[in-house]
Amino acid sequence: MTIQWFPGHMAKARRQVTENLKLVDIVFELIDARLPMSSRNPMLDDIIHQKNRLLILNKADMADEVQTKRWVQYFTDKGHHVVAVNSLDSKGLKRVVKAAEAVLKPKWDRMRAKGLKTRAIRAMIVGIPNVGKSTMINRLAKKNIARTGNTPGVTRSQQWIKVEKELELLDTPGILWPKFEDQEVGYKLALTGAIKDTITNMDDLAIYGLRFLEKYYPTRLEERYKITTVAEEVVETFDHIGRLRNVKAAGGEIDYDQVSELIVRDIRNEHLGKLTFDFVEDYE
Ligand code: G4P
Repeated sequence: MTIQWFPGHMAKARRQVTENLKLVDIVFELIDARLPMSSRNPMLDDIIHQKNRLLILNKADMADEVQTKRWVQYFTDKGHHVVAVNSLDSKGLKRVVKAAEAVLKPKWDRMRAKGLKTRAIRAMIVGIPNVGKSTMINRLAKKNIARTGNTPGVTRSQQWIKVEKELELLDTPGILWPKFEDQEVGYKLALTGAIKDTITNMDDLAIYGLRFLEKYYPTRLEERYKITTVAEEVVETFDHIGRLRNVKAAGGEIDYDQVSELIVRDIRNEHLGKLTFDFVEDYE
């Protein structure tokens, strides 16, 4: 589901996260490993301030492994705690619990030194729509708890989910907005399927995808479409791919709409391999 974010929505979503922050020791910021920058909320730093945070690069199973390692290093160098996981895999999720314990250890040690009793760590998940918040909550809870709908700012009674002896998780995730005013971010979100097609021009998206592949993954382009460059007149490349894959309309002409859809589908379905759309060097 695609949310239309209006100012009222954003204010409500922000308020909800701010309220819930008071209840937790740590925020799990969920990021799509394929978009470690583009899938972050632009105001989260402002919203969570000094609160302890664990960055979770989710969907790591779908991202380019080499780039994920570089991003983990990038965030670590910036002083963040970070783990890359696949929420569908319970082994990965155990690492989330361990990482949360590591983040909170200094605070817990201080409490113990003062003779105070420590309790389970309380956490909440925050992230933009579709990064996998509900999936992670449900997997950590080992049952279906989180609502998969994306309704920002809806208040309802919340519960703590006991994940392990050491960790309790708020069952309601904080849903925040993406950087939608940046067109390139919009394309990247659409290429990963985070934004649905109804609001995206498929031709523009396919052209963006081709140019992206030409720049960052030329060998994949060659393997899949037998080309090394995208023509200046992009229609020539569409003709080539259309002929190669036999995407023709009734009269035998190349059907460009179908070519666009094919390219976008190929990218989303990993037919060009596991891709990461944000590259560290563009953010240094
Ligand atoms: P949200 O609450 O943040 O909005 O996201 P949600 O959990 O609904 O997850 C969105 C989609 O991403 C789901 O696919 C879910 O299965 C998938 N997903 C979540 N985490 C991971 C992960 O670590 N690896 C992989 N491979 N997939 C993950 P879906 O139900 O098919 O939804 P959709 O793709 O049709 O939107």
